[in-house]
Amino acid sequence: MNNLKNLRGTVDLLPDQLIKWQNVEKILLEQLSRASIKEIRTPILEMTELFIRGIGEGTDVVSKEMYTFFDRGERSCTLRPEGTASVARALIQNGMSSNPLQKLWYMGPMFRYERPQSGRQRQFHQLGVEFIGYESVRSDVEIIALAWDLLGKLGIKELNLEINTLGDFNDRFNFQKSFLKWLEINKNSLDLDSQNRINKNPLRILDSKNIQTKKVLENAPKLFDFLSDQSLERYLILKDQLDFLKIPFVENFNLVRGLDYYTHTAFEITSGALGSQATVCGGGRYDNLIKQMGGPETPAIGFAIGLERLILLAGNKLEVGRQTDIYIVNKGLNAESLAMDLSRKLRNYDLLIELDLTGASFSKQYKKANKLKSKSIIVIGDDEASNKEFIIRLFNKDSLENQEETIAFEDSINLENWLNSNLFSKSNL
Ligand code: HAM
Repeated sequence: MNNLKNLRGTVDLLPDQLIKWQNVEKILLEQLSRASIKEIRTPILEMTELFIRGIGEGTDVVSKEMYTFFDRGERSCTLRPEGTASVARALIQNGMSSNPLQKLWYMGPMFRYERPQSGRQRQFHQLGVEFIGYESVRSDVEIIALAWDLLGKLGIKELNLEINTLGDFNDRFNFQKSFLKWLEINKNSLDLDSQNRINKNPLRILDSKNIQTKKVLENAPKLFDFLSDQSLERYLILKDQLDFLKIPFVENFNLVRGLDYYTHTAFEITSGALGSQATVCGGGRYDNLIKQMGGPETPAIGFAIGLERLILLAGNKLEVGRQTDIYIVNKGLNAESLAMDLSRKLRNYDLLIELDLTGASFSKQYKKANKLKSKSIIVIGDDEASNKEFIIRLFNKDSLENQEETIAFEDSINLENWLNSNLFSKSNL
């Protein structure tokens, strides 16, 4: 039993760590709701075919990183490596015609068989946002601004936004023809990884981190020079509007992203504080994906934020959990029953209640209340229980005398008066 461990690249999130996760998620979800974005939940397990067709066979994600297996019915299944393909499938399958414009978000675990390191896991979590049916450049700007502001709301500073345009299908086709010719001639000057990509996914070579390859690529044809007038105009408007919103960005013409479905706008937000796994958010436009998967022609754009990386960046203020409002010290058979009854009643007031269930001595219970920094305590001993009453007071030495009150169990009015004057802020009254 002792050598049972979690799988490499997966982690247990323990209660103390989860305080930060929950605080971060709360802020993110509030922002998404303010932007009128609705949640969608799709299965974690999908047909393997979905990702092969959606993400592309030549990508690293599909060719090397998927958790794929046969189920008992001999169907090839895959734990989702990302959320966009699943959202596209769900929309097609559930009929998109009644609602062609949708702003959606999802959050949950994703799975990629990569080498684990700080900020890179095999089971990780993403918050994704997808704007479906939106074609205008304004939706690109809105999506980038939303990602930027979500990170800003968490107080994360010193982020870098990199943008690029991948053009439309024709622009890419024309570029690829010329790029492939150049690659044939220069093949031997590239690193091995890049050489292997020539037939599988030549565009990804642009993204190579190999210094020698990067140098050689300086003389390669540039996708930018193959953009049609419309694609170029779209890109120029995007830049103007980002300037207008004062969202700083740098252009990175080598930013191609690791998934095949992108067209036009591609972007990433990185932070130097993350080390080698610097990208906290990645996204872009995918106008062909839904059609390619059998749906109607539907432009779309989205992004996903890696939550593990986000948690690494979010400040330690978010590690603080909600303080206990009332600790109920109780001892004795009758007192314990009454305490249980009272705690259920008190939770209806949106108070954080801690009830001792161990039967520990009064002094141990006081110590626990002190450790929890409980704002107040209720005491129920044998005497109080036989009188059907309890003592309530602030758990603060200065206010010991004057704030203490004995209240009968049935006396809700007196209890509410005490709560209003001692625990609830004026705005809650
Ligand atoms: P992605 O760039 O593959 O895009 O992933 C988005 C983010 O997920 C990354 O920037 C990173 O923060 C996080 N991430 C990826 N792999 C790992 C890992 N192994 N461990 C920890 N974090 C990781 C997508 O997944 C697209 N679906 C984004 C998108 C949505 N594009 C359009 N709509």
